[in-house]
This record gives sequence, structure tokens and C-alpha cells, in this order.
Amino acid sequence: MRLVVIVGSTRQGRFGPTVAAWFAGHARGRADLTVEVVDLAEGEPDGGTLTAADMFVVVTPEYNHSFPGPLKSAIDRHVTPWQAKPVGFVSYGGISGGLRAVEHLRQVFAELHAVTVRETVSFVWAPGRFDAGGSPIDPGPCGAAADRLLDQLAWWGRALAAARLAHPYGANVA
Ligand SMILES: Cc1cc2nc3c(=O)[nH]c(=O)nc-3n(C[C@H](O)[C@H](O)[C@H](O)COP(=O)(O)O)c2cc1C
Repeated sequence: MRLVVIVGSTRQGRFGPTVAAWFAGHARGRADLTVEVVDLAEGEPDGGTLTAADMFVVVTPEYNHSFPGPLKSAIDRHVTPWQAKPVGFVSYGGISGGLRAVEHLRQVFAELHAVTVRETVSFVWAPGRFDAGGSPIDPGPCGAAADRLLDQLAWWGRALAAARLAHPYGANVA
């Protein structure tokens, strides 16, 4: 199954790529997934990439209790590529660990007929949680959280891929 990891922060000096690279590397350790990273700082993803995906993970910081504007633009640009697919979140921020951004994203993805999974990976004060080489200083807890997220995502990914095949989504939905 194809997982697309979306790097949601685009600002100069951002920390997002470090978090995304760690998560993508972790996901690449699974035999059931192929992983592609889409960095919004390099432009919005094309519809073909998103359509080919079976599942998504959005790596998002929290800015003023929500997620970045460019991420919203990228999500809004597409409709059908999100439908009937699971979306997970890896978040980071200051004291919030990005969790308020994640809760806002759940509302957005519900409108797009996507299924958000419960488990998240969250980093409070993220830059302090990684060493100079980009590895988590304490890899155990975040690795375990990533495994739980990926297990749920894979379950939904398989279930929804089979369902889309049996019953193409969209014909009878608004
Ligand atoms: C404009 C702005 C607003 C922020 N607002 C919050 C916030 O509401 N809650 C929080 O926990 N952290 C907040 N932060 C901290 C960021 O989430 C944190 O610095 C994160 O690493 C930013 O991600 P980035 O470096 O990938 O852009 C804010 C940072 C910026 C730049």
C-alpha cells in the first residue's frame, strides 16, 4: 500500500522536515508500505500523487492553535483524492505538541470524506526532542506511537482500498 507523508510547514527555518524524515524512515521499515514524502515547501502536490495514495500522514506544526495556512490551501486544492482514505497525523509544536492543529485537521478531513485515525505521534517542544543528526533523543515512546498509528492506518488502508474497489466511492455521495 502506498503512504504519502505530507510535510505541512513551509516557513523558512522550519523544523518540519526533521520530524517528517524521522517518521518516513520509521514507516519505511514496514514491509506492507511504500512511502513517499511530499513537501509543501516544494509546491503543492499534484492530483496524481494523491490519487495513487492509499493513505496519508500529515506532519503538522501548530501555529496559533491551528495548522499552517499553506497546508489548508493544499488540502482544499483537491477533492476526490482524499475520499474514503485514512489520514493520520504526526504533530509537533510548543506546549501543545501540535494537538490543537490535529483536532482542526480532523474537521477538515471529515468534510472531505476522509477517515482520520485516532492514534497520533506528538512532540512537545520538538526541536529539543531530536539530536543534531535528526534522530529522536528518546526513540522508544515516539517509535511506539508511530507503530500504533501505522497499524491503524494500515488496517483502514486495506479495508478502504477493498471497499473502494468493490463499491467506487463518490457516485452516491454529495
Ligand atoms: C506563528 C507561530 C505560531 C505558533 N503558535 C503556537 C501555538 O499556538 N501552540 C504551540 O504549542 N506552539 C506554537 N508555535 C510553536 C511551533 O509550533 C513550533 O515552533 C514548531 O516547531 C513550528 O514548526 P516549523 O518549525 O516546522 O514551522 C508557533 C510558532 C509560530 C512560528
